[in-house]
Amino acid sequence: MQNNEYLRFKELVEEHLLYFLPEVDHKSITLYESMIYSLNAGGKMLRSVLLLAACDFCGGDEKLALPYACAIEYIHTYSLIHDDLPSMDNDDLRRGIPTNHKMFGEATAILAGDGLLTSAFEAMNKDMLLYFDNVENLKRRVRAVYEISKGAGCRGMIAGQIADIEAENKQCTKEILDYIHINKTAALIKAAVRAGAHLGGADKKMLADLDEYAENIGLAFQIVDDILDVKGKEEELGKKTGQDQIKRKATYPCRYGLMESKEKVQELTENAKKAMEPYYDNAEFFILLADELASRIR
Ligand code: IPE
Ligand code: IPE
Ligand code: MG
Ligand code: MG
Ligand code: MG
Repeated sequence: MQNNEYLRFKELVEEHLLYFLPEVDHKSITLYESMIYSLNAGGKMLRSVLLLAACDFCGGDEKLALPYACAIEYIHTYSLIHDDLPSMDNDDLRRGIPTNHKMFGEATAILAGDGLLTSAFEAMNKDMLLYFDNVENLKRRVRAVYEISKGAGCRGMIAGQIADIEAENKQCTKEILDYIHINKTAALIKAAVRAGAHLGGADKKMLADLDEYAENIGLAFQIVDDILDVKGKEEELGKKTGQDQIKRKATYPCRYGLMESKEKVQELTENAKKAMEPYYDNAEFFILLADELASRIR
């Protein structure tokens, strides 16, 4: 993503990414090393950027949303470490370097994921402790944490991940294919946007429009990921391509072909942009981002 606003939010997250982790206990240094190995490997930071951007858009101070932005990045990174495990997608390369379990072994990779997930909630809770005397601000934070737990949990990302695993080597219905994509990927993207919106003090209309935007780019994002697995380059993606076909995953290109999958991405991108059009110039970041995400397959 090249737009300046995206880069500004991303830099802000990168600068604070380690700050919200619990202090290192030297007796468990391997755990920290493995957590930081994957965190610092250079992801796109999409979810954390979206959280900050949504907070800013709704009138909040993005710096106060940083613990939540970093937390969602911890959760996303944990999900990738576990997603790559031999018992899941069994991948060797992630973010341009060997996957966590290739570097540290499977047991440490599982624990690094657990460590990142729990650190996310520790960081958000620690921030909430600062707001006990400020009920309005505390409420915003409680709502943000609820969105993040729901999106990351067993009615969101985890539900999608189990459905993804269960659909391997099978012909699944269109309904299941959408269920997988909406949950394993769109749910956390939506949670990031909704959490940021709550932190920024969104009204009902803003929340509904941002929700519509996020659901559409979220589904488009996973279809793009599936298309890039077919026709992308390993050097650019930092992960091996052709893996979905080898594992006979339920993907859009497999079910609908490349052409129809690309059309679907375009349709979802237009829907997303439409949701934000009423805000004109104020929504420039979101409109630009939707196009940038879709242009990854051009
Ligand atoms: C990869 O997410 C997993 C999917 C949901 C497709 P990203 O493509 O956002 O991965 P990073 O964070 O940039 O590595
Ligand atoms: C992963 O989807 C979604 C997650 C919740 C991690 P994929 O399995 O397609 O992601 P990649 O291609 O390994 O990044
Ligand atoms: Mg997977
Ligand atoms: Mg995978
Ligand atoms: Mg993929």
